Amino acid sequence: MIRCNNIQEQARDLSESICERWRHILAAGDFVLGEEVSRFEAWMSQRCGGGYVVSMNSATDALLLALRALGIGAGHEVITCSNTFVATVGAIVAVGAQPVLADVGDDELINADTIGPLLTARSRAVIPVHLRGRPVDINEILDICGPRGVAVIEDCAQAIGTTIKGHQVGTSSDAAAFSLHPLKTLGGMGDGGALVTTNPAIAEYARKARNHGLQSRDEAVLFGINSRLDSLQAAAINIKTQHLDQWLRRRREIAAFYDDAFAGTATGTDLGRGRQGSSYYHYVVKSRKRDKLQQHLAKHDIEATIHYPIPIHRQEAWRCSQPLISLPNTERLAQEILTIPCHHHLSDGDVEKIARAIRRFDSR
Ligand SMILES: Cc1ncc(COP(=O)(O)O)c(C=O)c1O
Repeated sequence: MIRCNNIQEQARDLSESICERWRHILAAGDFVLGEEVSRFEAWMSQRCGGGYVVSMNSATDALLLALRALGIGAGHEVITCSNTFVATVGAIVAVGAQPVLADVGDDELINADTIGPLLTARSRAVIPVHLRGRPVDINEILDICGPRGVAVIEDCAQAIGTTIKGHQVGTSSDAAAFSLHPLKTLGGMGDGGALVTTNPAIAEYARKARNHGLQSRDEAVLFGINSRLDSLQAAAINIKTQHLDQWLRRRREIAAFYDDAFAGTATGTDLGRGRQGSSYYHYVVKSRKRDKLQQHLAKHDIEATIHYPIPIHRQEAWRCSQPLISLPNTERLAQEILTIPCHHHLSDGDVEKIARAIRRFDSR
């Protein structure tokens, strides 16, 4: 089976070097927020053009602590999209704010036109999601939010390596949340995440809040959470950082091959077509016969998945606690999208096989 992710192959390729680092950590007993964690934060800061980086347990916690750092809570509204992983909206609900969901364009991304009409006097933040590693038009969003004093927190969980004009996304807003979950292009062997910001007050709050609000071993200056990155995860991630650019190049090469192969077909090319700087965390095609296409690919031993088949506003968690809303484009796309394999463990033969199978389906 050609899989949609390469989680096992990555672990296999790097297991020796990772285990060797882990042996050092075991011997030193440096398990939590250790030297490897500082090394990761320094690397990430450089990657993000010198911003503050506070590593933590997940992107979910990075979103949560960014919202808290900005004083967002009960009585406030936060705008985001519905076609995202549930964590984006979960973090808003967790701080007691009201999530407000914007529809998306045909590229699956929210934009200034869909956000604009939803801004009210209660709006405190917008969380644009760089879904699939596609860059949202962040400058247009900053332009409508800035004059109203509405903060922008970028959900970069899927966007390591995504760029705008050559710069990593997540560096031009108030704060950004990155995920280091094993399925991500840069991930550990367990959960991990990072908050990135150029605002020293947000960084200072997050650094304390991720560690129970402690400013020293015995002194708590605020009530925080336990969201520390551990040394074992950081060590695995630090090894992967050495390969990241090569992996991103391979994803882009595969995407370019698909773009050529699917041009002019009924299924078509990635929905982010024409958008420069995608890191192709997902390559997503669209078909009115999506379920049949997925079955056809499975028959050819090709895994294709749906991210996300149920938009957040159609989830039970939303229906039992939030207002009934309709987002026509989001709902239509959820019926038609299909993620096909696009990662650095695919051989040229695999990619050609996938392209052939889709073209054969289209010509039936
Ligand atoms: C768009 C998006 N936001 C947030 C998250 C949450 O990331 P984490 O699992 O690191 O909390 C994810 C994880 O898949 C995601 O895809």
